[in-house]
Amino acid sequence: MVTAISMLTRLDCLVLGFESPRSCPDWASRCLPPPTRSVLPVLTYFGFKGVCKYLEDLVAHIDGPRLNKLEVTFFNQIVFDTPQFIQFISRTPNLETFEKAQVVFQYGAWYYGDASAASVNLSSRTSGYRNVSVRIPCIELDWQVLSMEQICTLCLPPLSTLEDIYIYKCPYSQLDWQDNIENMLWLELLHPFNSVKNLYLSKEFMLCIGPALQELVGVSVTVLPALQNIFLEGL
Ligand SMILES: *[C@@H]1O[C@H](CO)[C@@H](O)[C@H](O)[C@H]1NC(C)=O
Ligand SMILES: *[C@@H]1O[C@H](CO)[C@@H](O)[C@H](O)[C@H]1NC(C)=O
Repeated sequence: MVTAISMLTRLDCLVLGFESPRSCPDWASRCLPPPTRSVLPVLTYFGFKGVCKYLEDLVAHIDGPRLNKLEVTFFNQIVFDTPQFIQFISRTPNLETFEKAQVVFQYGAWYYGDASAASVNLSSRTSGYRNVSVRIPCIELDWQVLSMEQICTLCLPPLSTLEDIYIYKCPYSQLDWQDNIENMLWLELLHPFNSVKNLYLSKEFMLCIGPALQELVGVSVTVLPALQNIFLEGL
């Protein structure tokens, strides 16, 4: 596939999606990354849906110097680990510095297909344009929080320029979506956001993240060391 797309020098938009997590790379026939990567000189949009091993193999072989929008959906799995994807983002100039992250949890009724998902979007503070979006379809809220924690820790480059983080439930989510997430899990989710100054919480989540942060008073664990303001929806 890399050989084929590398010949498409005017390729502006690339979308690659798999229907099911059963589509996995065949390890026996894998070859080592070549010494040089194929450059897609005008690629601006890249969308992917599949298992993370596939994306790892693909992005190890390509460069998209003009890329400014990356939308990824990973099928849910126990552990996400994507060193090649991190390097790919890090060597793409337009995907380098973001000030704003939105972490959104969404629970949809079954008839919306895979409407239940967690996602993290990264953008600059002013444009509002969402350059990077990573989404994990899964239903249970604790799985959603756990997968976001993994994505923010293991799948994205260090989020050292972020200033604002928004954590909310998608407004279309069902109202009766209950949760009993352990405080520790919320703190782990917040752990990678070392530079964040402003924390924005929706109504539902201030009732669980508030007590989690309260637990930190007087202990030496550092979560959100740069935090200055907390904004609560409706107040
Ligand atoms: C995000 O995309 C916009 C629109 O294409 C672009 O202007 C910007 O440089 C990109 N990167 C960041 C970090 O905002
Ligand atoms: C996150 O980004 C994706 C892709 O651009 C978009 O479809 C989705 O609505 C965004 N979510 C939020 C909450 O902004």
